[in-house]
Amino acid sequence: QTVFLKDYTPPEYLIDSVELSFDLDEQRTLVTSRLHMRRNPQSANQAVTLTLAGEELELVSIAIDGKPLAAGDFAISPESMLIHRVPQEQGFVLDIQNYINPKANTALEGLYLSGSMLCTQCEAQGFRKITWFLDRPDVMSRFKTTLRADKTDYPVLLSNGNKIASGELADGRHWVSWEDPFAKPCYLFALVAGQLECVADSFTTMSGRQIALEIFVEGHNVDKCSHAMQSLKNAMRWDEETYGLEYDLDLYMIVAVDHFNMGAMENKGLNVFNTKFVLARPDTATDSDYEHIEGVIGHEYFHNWSGNRVTCRDWFQLSLKEGFTVFRDQQFTGDRTSAAVKRIEDVNALRTRQFAEDAGPLAHPIRPEAYIEINNFYTLTVYEKGAEVVRMLHTLLGAKGFRKGCDLYFARHDGQAVTCEDFINAMEAANGVELTQFRRWYSQAGTPVVGVDQHFDAKTQQLRLILRQSCPATPNQPEKAPLHVPVKLGLLAPDGSPASIVFDGKTATEITLDLTESEQTFVFDKLAEAPVVSLLRGFSAPVNLDMPRSLEELAFLLRHDSDTFNRWEAGQQLAAKVIFALIEDLQNQRPLHLNALMAKAFHDLLAEEGDDLSYQALLLTLPDESYLAGQMRVIDVEAIHHAREFVKTTLAHDLRDDFERVYRIHHRDESGKFGADAIGRRRLKNACLSYLNQLESASSYALAKAQFEQARNMTDQVAALSAVVNSHHPDKADCLQNFYQQWQHEALVIDKWFALQASSHMPNTFATVQELMRHPAFDMHTPNRVRALIGAFSQANPLHFHAINGEGYRFLADQVLALNTLNPQIASRMVTGLAQWRRYDGKRQELMKQQLHRIVATEPLSKDVYEIASKSLA
Ligand code: ARG
Ligand code: ZN
Repeated sequence: QTVFLKDYTPPEYLIDSVELSFDLDEQRTLVTSRLHMRRNPQSANQAVTLTLAGEELELVSIAIDGKPLAAGDFAISPESMLIHRVPQEQGFVLDIQNYINPKANTALEGLYLSGSMLCTQCEAQGFRKITWFLDRPDVMSRFKTTLRADKTDYPVLLSNGNKIASGELADGRHWVSWEDPFAKPCYLFALVAGQLECVADSFTTMSGRQIALEIFVEGHNVDKCSHAMQSLKNAMRWDEETYGLEYDLDLYMIVAVDHFNMGAMENKGLNVFNTKFVLARPDTATDSDYEHIEGVIGHEYFHNWSGNRVTCRDWFQLSLKEGFTVFRDQQFTGDRTSAAVKRIEDVNALRTRQFAEDAGPLAHPIRPEAYIEINNFYTLTVYEKGAEVVRMLHTLLGAKGFRKGCDLYFARHDGQAVTCEDFINAMEAANGVELTQFRRWYSQAGTPVVGVDQHFDAKTQQLRLILRQSCPATPNQPEKAPLHVPVKLGLLAPDGSPASIVFDGKTATEITLDLTESEQTFVFDKLAEAPVVSLLRGFSAPVNLDMPRSLEELAFLLRHDSDTFNRWEAGQQLAAKVIFALIEDLQNQRPLHLNALMAKAFHDLLAEEGDDLSYQALLLTLPDESYLAGQMRVIDVEAIHHAREFVKTTLAHDLRDDFERVYRIHHRDESGKFGADAIGRRRLKNACLSYLNQLESASSYALAKAQFEQARNMTDQVAALSAVVNSHHPDKADCLQNFYQQWQHEALVIDKWFALQASSHMPNTFATVQELMRHPAFDMHTPNRVRALIGAFSQANPLHFHAINGEGYRFLADQVLALNTLNPQIASRMVTGLAQWRRYDGKRQELMKQQLHRIVATEPLSKDVYEIASKSLA
């Protein structure tokens, strides 16, 4: 049942407006729907039939223009309803009543129960689990929604738009009506009902309109909403200032729910959020949690324009709204925090996770051409690589040109459902440029490799730079065409100072080269001495740069590069090079020695007194194991782990005084302070703690324990607990027990407790994971908990997940099959742990394949899991 982009046709019918009413009940909700429909003049199809999507619905009644349909007038299948004949000449009204069972809905799409509250998730195709509908984003309708429910169980009744009326009913029930004046696709529909408290505030827009802001949470969480509220106001102001975009309704609501498949959802005027991205108090949330909350609140808010006012024509265009909106939220976070740190974090995530996706059996272009289950395409490629593609447009057109393109895009397409092509067209038209070749980024999968050769000629004072690009084959795309790759470049003089770039007769300190051919030569003039080239600054394109450098050159760039990204990158490459040499030593049973250059570089870093301490902490962080794995032809999980640990431990021994000094300088109680300096101090100090923890000494144990006991903020507490867990600390059991006791009523903190243990590299972790599966606080019905335990073990613990006896793989397959019936979306996310089997040695390949075969052979198997598991094997 594959769906193809090439098969797209406009909808045969339109739904201009919808009146919905819900008689809410945990197990038997009655949905009454009135659709005002007509033929779509845009559709070439002449058939008189009408097909509506609908799943797991129990029909009560159906009528057209008030006339009930007879049994022979329509046919219902598990996924749709076919009405044999509907009026063609004029519009008509379709009335449907049906029952749904929210409590039985463990897949968490459509209308479902989270704790005692009812809520919805309709993107991508959840609305069809509420009632029969044209469930596709190019059908946009105005919604009026009435909710009726018991007043005690559901005192708060919310839907999209503005509240227009409410009243009392008999038997302790009440009702509220909502109207959304903006036409929208049904994936943006939402309703929420429950015992919720409201935290309220307001925002005055740039044109002076007052917007009511409301965050709804369960009573015990009212004290954890102030950061989310401030973030919302920051996002609203930022979008006005940066994109000139203003909010359009009088009310903006956010509801936080415990059970949610993804991060959050941008339903018009009524965002539904995973509690993880709303709730924060200094003692319960880390600095990173604070930043992620602001980022996700921003993301969903920015969707109001990039997603809602202008939406997608079909789901193949998902990156149109997601890539663009991720880019916007990245810019926002960069402006709000440290731009250098944000960029590094984003690139790091892209390179460790999206590059792996792009190099494996599930590789697809940011605009995919086929899917079996669209939920499987909410991927790192569509989101994160999609954002990189938008970022390249920003680089190529400049901030002003990009803004002009955005203005035109929103002006042209407000109220429409459009395509990625429309976005590029607007960028071209607004800037008078041509982006024909650039479009290939939308259709071509795989991570390009850019190779570099350089020749300096002292006589002519010229540097010739030869850049080559190629892209490995990906599923269904054996041949690749060259892409338009913007390559940002700077030159460093031998003393480390920036050298002038004389290129094409112009002089600059930094330029962007347009690499468009498979091989291209760039010549730089007037160089008295050979410069050191700093290439792909800011990670200006999502490519693998293949540029062999000596350790000395990397150490030089780590000292001197003025580009914060490339400076960090030089340190990462330096460390990676050292680690790979050690891996070879390990594989050949040679003794290990730490390269002196590496120790010297770290010594210098620790002596630095920069003003971005978060950045400094990143400079001190070794590349993680999955990033290193991505660079190996055959991944050797054990060697990677031991070589990296060796480097970390040796640095801790050699530079112990430095780590202790820096730790002491920055260790102070600044709980509740979230300025860049306080956050930076915590990051830098905790980076030092993590090194010192390698010492496994009485003093390192004392340090971790003291920080654990004295911490008044979650950043410090969890960093200390992580140190304890990832060592032979004598008080480990006590600390874990105390932490659990302290936080047992805070679900999000208990998630951290599970995740820390599941990702520990200490022996016996697998036994611990199995034990935790039986812990009373573990629950397969709660996606956050599943991610914290099963997700952390299979995706953040390469050493133990890939144990050579295959127990990790068998365990994961067991859990995938258990989740398959409960929650297919979460189940299929978990399969990705097995998808990369081709990258491992023969023994592990066999073991992983065995489990994939076992999954594929299971019946019944959800589309979600089937698609990922079968494509992984193909
Ligand atoms: N549009 C949401 C966001 O990125 C994601 C919702 C995806 N949901 C899903 N079931 N695939 O902001
Ligand atoms: Zn999004």
